[in-house]
Amino acid sequence: MLETILMEKEGRVAILTINRPDKLNALSQQVRDDMLQVLAEIEKDDSVGAVVITGAGEKSFIAGADIGEFAGRTPFDQREAMASPRIFDVMAAFPKPVIAMINGFCLGGGCELAMSCDMRIASEKARFGQPEINLGIIPGGGGTQRLPRLVGLGNAMRLILSGDMIPAAEAKEIGLVDMVFPADELRAKTLELAGKIASKSPLTLRVAKEAVRASERLAIEDGIPYERDLFCLCFSTQDKEEGVKAFLEKRPAQWTGR
Ligand code: COA
Repeated sequence: MLETILMEKEGRVAILTINRPDKLNALSQQVRDDMLQVLAEIEKDDSVGAVVITGAGEKSFIAGADIGEFAGRTPFDQREAMASPRIFDVMAAFPKPVIAMINGFCLGGGCELAMSCDMRIASEKARFGQPEINLGIIPGGGGTQRLPRLVGLGNAMRLILSGDMIPAAEAKEIGLVDMVFPADELRAKTLELAGKIASKSPLTLRVAKEAVRASERLAIEDGIPYERDLFCLCFSTQDKEEGVKAFLEKRPAQWTGR
């Protein structure tokens, strides 16, 4: 039982809830440590096919890094706090799909964590922003790099330089979130998608995520042959034989993850 993270399972989906509602689920060192621990356990757990991350309470997904921990910190303290492995990178490279289920404030490190996930699904009530500028700092969890890739340079500059918050509808319009639902439908809609994804072959999901993630760092002339290699790698699996056979026999495939 972890101090700051609740974990429940629905079918093959693990739902992780950051549980500090009185502090709007701010990312303290304890939250980051607990998150790394639970992700390490989920990585080894074959009964989990996909992960959903959300925040406790009605009000907030994650309202950023725990600002209280910044007071009086030296650069050396901060470097220690930002030592690898970092949750943002672990999430992006996690071998199972990770969905951010954004139920409220999604600010600073919270927005950066959401951007590290593979998909972002938000409540109509959610609000997004990178307010670090108001604290005399800049985003440090990948925000200056991931935000422009999602929303373009101008929108990223606007959010990071102004510190302004935007509503979910606008976040969807600029590409920061993928889907928006009324608050009372958020969980059901997110779990419907997560459940569908988690029912696929874990091995194929892993390879598909790896290929799509490669597009963040590779030029197209390198990305296309990389995709071809991963595509051919799928031909080494039992799940490829099963998937093709099941289609030809007009029956659902039985994935084994091998
Ligand atoms: N770190 C630490 N504590 C935080 C926090 C954060 N990032 N965000 C909110 N909290 C705490 C508040 O200090 C308050 O604690 P208290 O009740 O002990 O005083 C509690 O959570 C509730 O927040 P409050 O500010 O009272 O709620 P609100 O509805 O008036 O405002 C926000 C909500 C999100 C606008 C406001 O809390 C805020 O601006 N938070 C900081 C966002 C930020 O700058 N994040 C980037 C950090 S790098």
